[in-house]
Amino acid sequence: MNKKTILAIDVGTGMIKVFAGSLQADGSVAILGSGAAPTAGYERGVITDINALTHSIRQAVDCVIMAVDSQATGSVYLGISGSSLVMQNSIGSIAPTTPAAATSQDVERACKAAIFAVADSDYENLHVFSAKESIAKPGAALEVEAHLISAPKVILQGLTQALANNGLNLNGIVASGIVAAETMKTEILNRPNNFVFMDIGAGTADFVIYVGGKLCFSASLPLGGDYITSDLMQGISVNRAHAEEIKRYYSRLSPDLRNQGVVLDCNDYGTTDKHISFDFLYDIIESRVDEIGAILYDSVKPLLDKHLSVSGQNLECIYLTGGLGTMPSMVSCIAKVFQIHTETVKPVQLADEYAHPANTVCYGIIRYGAKISASEPVTGGGNAWNVFIDKAKKLLKF
Ligand SMILES: Nc1ncnc2c1ncn2[C@@H]1O[C@H](COP(=O)(O)OP(=O)(O)OP(=O)(O)O)[C@@H](O)[C@H]1O
Ligand SMILES: [Mg+2]
Repeated sequence: MNKKTILAIDVGTGMIKVFAGSLQADGSVAILGSGAAPTAGYERGVITDINALTHSIRQAVDCVIMAVDSQATGSVYLGISGSSLVMQNSIGSIAPTTPAAATSQDVERACKAAIFAVADSDYENLHVFSAKESIAKPGAALEVEAHLISAPKVILQGLTQALANNGLNLNGIVASGIVAAETMKTEILNRPNNFVFMDIGAGTADFVIYVGGKLCFSASLPLGGDYITSDLMQGISVNRAHAEEIKRYYSRLSPDLRNQGVVLDCNDYGTTDKHISFDFLYDIIESRVDEIGAILYDSVKPLLDKHLSVSGQNLECIYLTGGLGTMPSMVSCIAKVFQIHTETVKPVQLADEYAHPANTVCYGIIRYGAKISASEPVTGGGNAWNVFIDKAKKLLKF
């Protein structure tokens, strides 16, 4: 792979997923191959064993390197989520360059002021978005409410160092939910102004709120399909892999099978006694789906109300991705609790083999990496971390 090749690594609770792509002349990225490996050392957004996690990442990267038949890795970007990230809003206020109107440079300066207002030397800022801009009257100060996403330096540097020790030099670490939402946002036809993007995976549910077309808040909750899998493991005494299979089998069935006396053959290699009534599976799975929907509602609704009320607007749509975002009953549960149109989205620009909602984050990371690579070719020398910090600073997004 050459320097215009981009490697995107999505650190998920269930799997590490990797895309290798090649930057095209028009700034788009062509996917060359993908790889995956089971995750170790990372649970519901918390790094529990950095060496085990590094090993899993290296395994997944080796899969993709084999798939695209190359030894070099090009530019490497890694997405993280969960409680390793801190999401917050902060106000920055500056005097505009000219009293007539605020320019994009003014907004950029105000965002920097917002970052400084909450700066903590133990944290590194990964992304900044201008959520709301206001000037009380001509000539007055420009006030920007910025949404900031940061992560502890100890985690960023620890991951960067551990991967470098394994022969993988990172060019950047990004917030998974943010890059997924920002990428899908540009690809949704007839996109509304007020919407929520949710990536619900195995252990984390990332949500991003857009009001008036602007990203105004995001968060990551420790919720996901793993809870359903664990319930099934206990409820029908099967191992994790078997419970995963049963969950996916169930999710393809119609809820109309309920109260029909249907018994499903849920046997796998080594079992003969797993003839389970549909109603029993329904009760186990749907009670957890309802609980996840209720927690999401309790977490998202107050934030939505706060940001929508300022502009007097209404929520128009919820977009779901991630593995659990494909489950029909999860989609209808979210639609029911929020009382809003909800649909599953996936990266349709990708070839069919990659265009799955669970790949949206990986797609978002590679598109993010492509944007940086297109604007600033990767230099050969220098410390990878410093190179990343310089790029991240230049890539402040407004
Ligand atoms: N068809 C399906 N029906 C129900 N659940 C599904 C289906 N496909 C995948 N899942 C579930 O989605 C989860 C995996 O999703 P995903 O790959 O997005 O998670 P992850 O990225 O590994 O984890 P996270 O982002 O939460 O850290 C698993 O719990 C899996 O069982
Ligand atoms: Mg994920």
